[in-house]
Amino acid sequence: MTDMIAAARGILADAQNLVAFTGAGMSADSGLDTYRDAQTGLWKNVDPQAMASIDAWARDPEPMWRWYLHRKSRSEKAHPNPGHRTLAKLGAHVITQNIDNLHERGGSTDVVHLHGSLFEFRCTICSRPWRGATEPDHIPECPLCGNLIRPGVVWFGEGLPPREWDKAEQLLSTADALIIVGTSGVVQPAAGLPRLAAARGVPVIEITPQPTELTPLATVQVTGRAGDILPNLFNIYQPLSLKNTGVI
Ligand code: APR
Repeated sequence: MTDMIAAARGILADAQNLVAFTGAGMSADSGLDTYRDAQTGLWKNVDPQAMASIDAWARDPEPMWRWYLHRKSRSEKAHPNPGHRTLAKLGAHVITQNIDNLHERGGSTDVVHLHGSLFEFRCTICSRPWRGATEPDHIPECPLCGNLIRPGVVWFGEGLPPREWDKAEQLLSTADALIIVGTSGVVQPAAGLPRLAAARGVPVIEITPQPTELTPLATVQVTGRAGDILPNLFNIYQPLSLKNTGVI
């Protein structure tokens, strides 16, 4: 693996416009569940169509409301891991499928959330942003049109936010290096974005514990965990045992 690390470091050393494309695995070392990992993935215990679709929300919003507030609370209690901090130190523009805020709390200042955020809420119908209280046992109603306030996340069957999509396309059209971390690459259309950079001949580093749908795009594939490998690429190896200490 040391050859792969050296090759990845070489790509990063030359990069002037680095983009990172991340998924749930990025936050796994912060204690947050991924979606599809065997045994531990969220979708192993929860039916995505029952908890992440607009139809389920229309049918029975209360359990979804409670579930997303639970996930928001877990994200608030989690800490950015050395992987988040390293992407920030590398100055990477981040395009993430994640709805937690760990990239921002890890120091990244340019983060595109393709699938929304646990920390944003809006009216189900008129989309007016909601910045009021959010309690598990009561779904607020929009002061403008009276409809239910919903989590500001993208559910199955919904389109991705156009402004974030356009920003992601623009970043990938000008990137001179791409790091893919912590995504299985199975959910479209987000998973199609890295191909925009690869098709331009941009060097692609993938950091993953196991091969993914995006591995064929990788110039260099480094096997391992985000919280271990990323600091290693930045020459500041930070064993996970010291993670969340804020050292980097
Ligand atoms: N470091 C790096 N990668 C990891 C780690 C880790 N510590 N732990 C797990 N992984 C990898 C897994 O091997 C897997 O390839 O992270 C990936 C997580 O894949 P998914 O669970 O499918 O998550 P993701 O790719 O982000 O899902 C995309 O699907 O359900 C929707 O909206 C949801 O944004 C999500 C989208």
